[in-house]
Amino acid sequence: MSVRRLAEDTVQPASFAFSKENAAWAKETINKYPKGREQSAVIPLLMRAQDQDGWVTKAAIESIADMLGMPYIRALEVATFYTQFQLKPVGTRAHIQVCGTTPCMLRGAEDLIKVCKSKIAHDPFTLNESGTLSWEEVECQGACVNAPMVMIFKDTFEDLTPEQLEQIIDRFEAGKGAEVTPGPQIDRIYSAPEGGPTTLMLVDAAPAKTTATPKKASAEPAVSVPPSNAGRAKTAATETNASLKTPATAKAEAAANAKIEGDTVDKSKPAKTAAVSGKPSLEDKNRPAGIEKPAAVDDLKLISGVGPKIEGTLNELGIYTYAQVASWKKAEREWVDGYLNFKGRIERDDWVKQAKALAKGGEAEYIKVFGKKPR
Ligand code: FES
Repeated sequence: MSVRRLAEDTVQPASFAFSKENAAWAKETINKYPKGREQSAVIPLLMRAQDQDGWVTKAAIESIADMLGMPYIRALEVATFYTQFQLKPVGTRAHIQVCGTTPCMLRGAEDLIKVCKSKIAHDPFTLNESGTLSWEEVECQGACVNAPMVMIFKDTFEDLTPEQLEQIIDRFEAGKGAEVTPGPQIDRIYSAPEGGPTTLMLVDAAPAKTTATPKKASAEPAVSVPPSNAGRAKTAATETNASLKTPATAKAEAAANAKIEGDTVDKSKPAKTAAVSGKPSLEDKNRPAGIEKPAAVDDLKLISGVGPKIEGTLNELGIYTYAQVASWKKAEREWVDGYLNFKGRIERDDWVKQAKALAKGGEAEYIKVFGKKPR
C-alpha cells in the first residue's frame, strides 16, 4: 500500500463546512447510531465531504472529528487508511483509478496505465494542465472477472482495451462522462460470460412436433423431420433413401426445389413461431439438412454442450449423427446456434471438432484428440 499523507499546506483550505443540505444529511446519519457510538458515522461523513469538495481536506477531517466527538488523530487514521478517500485535489471531471492487481495486470492493466500516463500526467495524483483529470493505480476493486478495469468516481468500467479507455477519458474531459455507460464495455451482462449465458439456461428451442401427415408407404418412407423441412427431407428421401446429406447438397437442393418447398410445405406454424421468437426461420436456407431417423443413432450427448433436451431438439431437426454435426459449415452452425439461443456456444465448445473425432473413432478418437473422455 502506498504511503498516504495529507496534501501540502499550500493547497489545504483554511476551513470546512458542509452545505446546508449535507449538514442535514450528516445530522440524520449520526442519529442512526446509538448514543455513544456516533463515531461510527466517520466513514459516511468523510465520504460526503469528499463528494462535496472532490477530496478530503485536513479541515474536513478535523471538522468531522469535532462533529463526532472524536480525537483528530482517530479521524485522520480512518481517512489515511482507506484509499477511497482522496487526500489531495484530483481531477474535477475524472480521477481514474486503474486496478493494477494480478488479474487486471495479467489482462492488460499496464497498458491502461500507459494511456493514463500519456493522456493525463506521467505521475499518479498529478493533475493535467487544465486540472480536469488525474489518475492513480489502486488495488483490486472487486471486478476481477471483467479485468482489466478502472473506477471513475463510483462507477467501474470493465473489460477495457487501451483504445476504449482513451475514449472514456476523452468523454469525461469533455464533461460528458455521464453519457458513458459504466460496467462491461463488451457484449457481457454484469459478470455473465461474454456473449451471454452458457449454463443453466432454459433452452426453449424445441420446435413444434411434426403434425405432417405421414407420406404414403408406397411413395416414400416416413420422414421424422419437422414439417417445414419436409421439402428438403422429401428430396433427400427420394434421391438417397435418407442417407446422410451434406449441407452443400442440401443447400443446392433447397434452391433447386424452392418451388417444391413453396408448394408443399405448411409454412404456417413452426416458421411463424420461429420468426416471432427471434429465432431463425425453420425454412432458412442455412438450416442444416435433416435426415430420416437411422436405425442406429449416435449419442449426441457425448458432444460437450449437448444435453438430453438439446439432443431431443436436434433430433427433431433431423440431426442424428456425429457426421451431420461434423459437416456443418459456418452459416449452418450459426443457424443452429441461433435456433438454440446459444450465443456462440457451438463455436466455443467446438462441436464440429468434437463431432469429427467421434465420427472418426468414437470415444477412443475423442480421447486422442482432446486428452479426455467425452462429457
Ligand atoms: S484484480 Fe482488478 S478488479 Fe480485482
